[in-house]
Amino acid sequence: MASSPARSATARARRWPVAASAGCVLLIALLALAAAEPPLATPVAPAGGSASAGATRAPHPTIYRTPAAAPRVATGERDHQGQPVTIACSTCHAVRPANPANRGSGDLDLFHQGLLVQHGSNACLSCHNPGDYDRLRLADGSAVEFTEVMTLCAQCHGPQWRDYQRGAHGGMAGFWDQQRGGRVRNTCTSCHDPHAPKYRGAIPMPPPKDRFVAPGAGHE
Ligand code: HEC
Ligand code: HEC
Ligand code: HEC
Ligand code: HEC
Repeated sequence: MASSPARSATARARRWPVAASAGCVLLIALLALAAAEPPLATPVAPAGGSASAGATRAPHPTIYRTPAAAPRVATGERDHQGQPVTIACSTCHAVRPANPANRGSGDLDLFHQGLLVQHGSNACLSCHNPGDYDRLRLADGSAVEFTEVMTLCAQCHGPQWRDYQRGAHGGMAGFWDQQRGGRVRNTCTSCHDPHAPKYRGAIPMPPPKDRFVAPGAGHE
């Protein structure tokens, strides 16, 4: 069975010229489709959105709704102006070695009690950075700011991240055609709680009753 694939392919092509040319047409069609696919943007897309190769850069930007800052913990105290006093995660964690044995909700008895974590097999330190609790971290150990949380989600959810980049997941407001106007996109955590990301199922309901629309008639 040492015949080279190229030689057996030519032999087959001689035998079935029709099949071979049909294959060629299919291949060309596939190549054309592949060329039409826009390239994927990097996780933290630059303002301006993903400009496809060769095309002119869209004049209107894509604005990403990113979390404003790293989360903080409320102390229950108020300052002299009546504002709630919050502290950074590192306030406690800089002096507490990270504990990899704390993996899920059930392991928390000293602090963060009641925090519900229901996210596959992930442990706390799958996402939180044991060297710096004011940041997240990727599987390769590199730090990620909380404001760039999408980079973290994208690491494990490739299909949804790809859909997101194509506009088929995650919603948007504004224009598809960025020659005409800008676009606002959510971040993954606008909709999903990172600790318990399952989307609550919707309960199917009968349509609203409208006294002014005859049954069977369309809207407008
Ligand atoms: C008041 C002190 C305090 C603050 C502030 C605090 N933590 Fe903690 N954290 C703890 C303690 C104590 C534990 C251990 C809980 C246990 O073992 O039951 C813990 C445990 C954890 C763990 C589990 C892994 C480990 O090292 O034990 C994570 C992850 C974590 N904290 C994240 C955070 C994040 C993120 C913030 C900021 C939003 C934060 N913490 C703020 C005291 C604190
Ligand atoms: C899938 C990734 C992921 C896992 C797993 C995870 N976290 Fe988080 N955690 C986050 C992100 C992202 C935020 C920022 C929350 C936001 O932006 O709303 C956060 C926020 C927090 C906060 C502050 C805000 C809050 O919700 O109270 C604490 C405390 C915390 N995590 C502790 C933990 C502990 C303890 C565990 C394990 C029992 C854990 N996390 C597991 C991603 C994760
Ligand atoms: C380290 C890998 C990892 C990271 C990081 C991660 N996830 Fe997940 N995620 C998982 C796994 C594993 C599951 C469980 C898959 C299953 O049960 O089939 C899951 C499940 C989910 C689900 C489906 C939940 C369900 O029960 O239907 C959603 C939604 C989700 N993740 C969103 C997120 C978001 C948003 C982020 C970023 C904050 C994120 N994930 C970060 C690994 C990860
Ligand atoms: C506008 C809200 C919204 C945003 C933003 C969003 N999602 Fe979702 N996501 C949903 C909804 C709704 C579902 C449930 C779909 C269903 O039940 O069929 C879902 C489902 C999922 C699932 C479960 C598998 C699936 O496809 O049903 C994963 C994983 C997930 N999202 C990851 C992500 C990631 C990663 C991001 C960020 C790149 C993200 N989502 C951004 C609304 C959102």
